[in-house]
Amino acid sequence: MEQRSALLEISDTIDAKTIVNELAGTVKIAEVLFSCKDSELKEKIEAASLYDGTSNKIIYFVEVINASPSLREHFKRHFKMIGIKALHKSLAPHTIAKTKQGYVDFILLRQGSLYYVAKTLACADPFKFKERDVSRPVIEPKIMSSIRLSRMLVNLAGLLPRATILDPFCGIGTVLQEAMLMGFDVKGVELDESRVKNCIENLKWLKESYQLKESFDVFHGDATRLSEYFAKESIDAIVTEPELGPLLKKRPSEAEAKTTIARLQALYEKFFKEASVVLKPFGRIVIVIPRFRTENFKLFDVDIEKILSEADFKIHNPTKGTAIEMSIPQIYKEEWHRIERQIYIFEKHLRH
Ligand SMILES: C[S@@+](CC[C@H](N)C(=O)[O-])C[C@H]1O[C@@H](n2cnc3c(N)ncnc32)[C@H](O)[C@@H]1O
Repeated sequence: MEQRSALLEISDTIDAKTIVNELAGTVKIAEVLFSCKDSELKEKIEAASLYDGTSNKIIYFVEVINASPSLREHFKRHFKMIGIKALHKSLAPHTIAKTKQGYVDFILLRQGSLYYVAKTLACADPFKFKERDVSRPVIEPKIMSSIRLSRMLVNLAGLLPRATILDPFCGIGTVLQEAMLMGFDVKGVELDESRVKNCIENLKWLKESYQLKESFDVFHGDATRLSEYFAKESIDAIVTEPELGPLLKKRPSEAEAKTTIARLQALYEKFFKEASVVLKPFGRIVIVIPRFRTENFKLFDVDIEKILSEADFKIHNPTKGTAIEMSIPQIYKEEWHRIERQIYIFEKHLRH
């Protein structure tokens, strides 16, 4: 994702360790110790209270954002001056999440003419998600969404507690399970009958294991026929990683990419029209739309403009006009992914 950092001023104290995993797309939460101008930075870091533990031997890391890595020297000097043996070493965030004693993680961020020095309070622990991922009764790695991505999608719907979320391409129910854990009632539609059965088994297990009061209703159906199953304007939000085309072992040829895009375009157009019937006014769709880079690096994408011209939706950007404005779509791509996932948020607006 493109956004690297966001500065927030909050009045309450927060439980950073819980929040960082709830946010899912956030890697670290750090507390700003101080901010200063370029000319004061050296002196401020050297004089700051950076470590309040008792050990005289620590490992630390300074993540530098938007500034010169050479500024780490100030931290080195600080520890030397206070007589602590400090080894500068980069640890992966999931290791940081587990490391307790004798490790301190800092962030040095430059924004405009100011530098911010912050100390990390919590790091996301992807293995926490993994436990839940592998312990459910049925998994189907080739088609199931990632838990982290599912959480991010549910968060982006910006819903109030107890709202109802629909995943019309629900597979074995990853988005639905995360939505239930986050306090939403869910509905799922799936074309493949065995996945419907597996999804129900997974959600039953989840409800019992986590003692949830949230409800689920999952059935066999087609995402292009939603108005046959749900009352008009009855759904608060649709959150989904839908059908993304065939599983790719390598980059597709141009012909393969064109065929897949044409098939997905037709599917998504029908789905959006149906979604606009069952969603409440201003209801949102948070959806992953794939794009494909071919073996000769050409990019093939779904025609969103065409979809929107035929359905009652506008692209929605919840961060518009704020200091942390992000662009929509957000690209979600790990190195090993063959397809690039674009995260879109749409809001239902009736045309006049
Ligand atoms: C990427 S998987 C879904 C992952 C799922 N959202 C999750 O949370 O794990 C896409 C799913 O869409 C289903 N599918 C494809 N076409 C469909 C349609 N027209 N209606 C409903 N489901 C469909 C596929 O069978 C597959 O299970």
